[in-house]
Amino acid sequence: MNKDQASERVRELRTLLNKANDAYYQEAAPLMSDREYDSLLEELRQLEEEYQLFSPDSPTERIGGEPTREFPTVTHPVPMLSLSNTYSREELDDFDRRVQNLLGHDNYSYLAELKYDGMAIRLRYKDGRLDLGATRGDGTQGDDITANIRTIQDVPLTLSGSCPEELEVRGEAYMELAAFAKMNSAREENGETVFANPRNATAGTLKLQNPSIVAKRPIRMFVYDILLEDDDRKRTQQKKLDMLEKFGFRVCEHRSRCPGITDVHRVIEKWGKLRKELPYETDGVVVKVNEERYRDILGQTAKAPRWAIAYKFEAEQAVSRIHGITLQVGRLGTITPVAELEPVLLAGTTVKRATLHNEEEIRRKDIRVGDRVIVEKAGDIIPQVVNVVLQEDGQRGEPFKMPENCPACGSHLVKLPEEVAWRCTNNQCPPQVRNRLEHFASRDAMDIDGLGEAVVDQLVSQELVTTFPDLYRLTTDDLVPLERMGEKSAGNLIASIHKSKEKPFEKVLYALGIRFVGVTVARDLARAFRSIDALADASEEDLSAIDSIGPRIAKSVRSFFEQPENMEMVRQLRETGLSFRSEEPDTASDKFAGKAFVLTGTLPTLKRSEAQEHIEKHGGKVTSSVSKKTDFVLAGEEAGSKLDKAKKLGISIISENDFFEMIK
Ligand code: IVH
Repeated sequence: MNKDQASERVRELRTLLNKANDAYYQEAAPLMSDREYDSLLEELRQLEEEYQLFSPDSPTERIGGEPTREFPTVTHPVPMLSLSNTYSREELDDFDRRVQNLLGHDNYSYLAELKYDGMAIRLRYKDGRLDLGATRGDGTQGDDITANIRTIQDVPLTLSGSCPEELEVRGEAYMELAAFAKMNSAREENGETVFANPRNATAGTLKLQNPSIVAKRPIRMFVYDILLEDDDRKRTQQKKLDMLEKFGFRVCEHRSRCPGITDVHRVIEKWGKLRKELPYETDGVVVKVNEERYRDILGQTAKAPRWAIAYKFEAEQAVSRIHGITLQVGRLGTITPVAELEPVLLAGTTVKRATLHNEEEIRRKDIRVGDRVIVEKAGDIIPQVVNVVLQEDGQRGEPFKMPENCPACGSHLVKLPEEVAWRCTNNQCPPQVRNRLEHFASRDAMDIDGLGEAVVDQLVSQELVTTFPDLYRLTTDDLVPLERMGEKSAGNLIASIHKSKEKPFEKVLYALGIRFVGVTVARDLARAFRSIDALADASEEDLSAIDSIGPRIAKSVRSFFEQPENMEMVRQLRETGLSFRSEEPDTASDKFAGKAFVLTGTLPTLKRSEAQEHIEKHGGKVTSSVSKKTDFVLAGEEAGSKLDKAKKLGISIISENDFFEMIK
């Protein structure tokens, strides 16, 4: 996308979102679901940021109708310092000598904690309730991002046990690697821009103006400090962490008390090797004097305390050369360019390939075949090319150009205007077939043990299988001749293929691999429609009436069932014995038959999904927006515009307690 196209799209999105806002707030007749609104708003935000197209009257500057150009600024009463860093073991010993000299003895100990790589956050609680969440900013002033912080599951909204009237803690928000990778590949598959690493994803997410998008991102948080007024002479870092845990915070799970600096070296040695096995990125070990009374003596400089230091691991980057750019075809035909690299050792493994995400990324970084590049393991299991190291002589290859045809089957590639990815639309394209079958057999889908990449590859290349029903027609005799397949494993595979017929409808639906239908959407669709026939008959409108289904998903589901070959596949799978209807609903009563509920705000005990389950169990349904047709609004803490609207329309507003009374 060039700047002109971007500003055109930005204009389009602003008009659409403003219309949606008016419809929602003034005309009380929503144009789109909350989900669709959020995703368009997110697209707009990204374009504005990438192409620097800000405007004070853009819908991105508003939440619930109120302009919020930026987050309110908060001043930190106790500054948020940073840490002095070192990459050298000798400097770590120097640090220890300084501590000893300043204290004049060696009766202190250290607590070594992992340094999580994310974003520093300050939390304030009043009377045990979360009252403020703020970024570090420049250390003295930061942004008040309380609404976003509230969406983080690890952050307790109310503290357990008895706690001081006012309490302040500090910690780090971050993303786990697996969740980050999953989020990024979903973004890639959906043609959205991807984040470079978990830290960027965390910082980018916490700066969003829309907490409902933040809530969908896998942000986690651990806390490493608590500010206490009293001066307990015996207090240690270790005790503070125990205390934080009792209040309900997550603290660093890997911490070691070290009597001396030699023990600290040992801890560093250990994590230098083991850090690759952690579910999150750590960029070092924070070494802190454990005893609080010694910290007071050591004091701090303007920037950092003298009682702590961060030992940082070398960044996981390496330099290599790109000898080719190949194209990968995904399950839904998405074309992903991949850099073929001269093998290089990176974070313990040899890297030969790195994703280049999409054509735009390549153009933005101006990556060409022959270039020397910096490769990074950015938390993703898949390494990425960070940037090009330009050579003095300036000799370079030609800029990358996307071919017009699919590298695997030769079909013409297409690109939808709202997406960044090119696609191959031939659904018989072999890599698509392979990836579809792998998806079908995967753990969250039909969970067919033994049907991994290697076997699928052979089945497809030998033309034994092209569609899902073909799998159920396989015999041991078909399998035995395959490579690395004995009589016994062939028998086992056939057994697990047949066992998969017991999978419930929602899993089967997910396994079909309909675009945008992930595990959750499949479950919601299976619950709402109960059978494939009802689902296949549903109009886009019927589909969009479900809370979690926006027009984009509705369209995709419709188009799946409009293709005769898909209907034929479903017919064959049904004949084979796969489950295409849900078990009878578990109805507790029909108390709420025909009643429409809207959920808003945070309920004291029930999760949204639990409340929904209760309502449905009693015959009611949950819709996303308040209208004259709404019977009840079940409102919790921080209920927003939906509550206002319900009041305006005179709809019954009930609390969780009222709700419990009703279903008792
Ligand atoms: S203690 C006075 N402990 O590292 C500052 N910080 O420059 C005390 N960080 O972004 C910080 N893990 O949020 C401490 N276990 C840990 C940490 C940690 C990550 C972050 C911190 C800040 C940076 C310090």
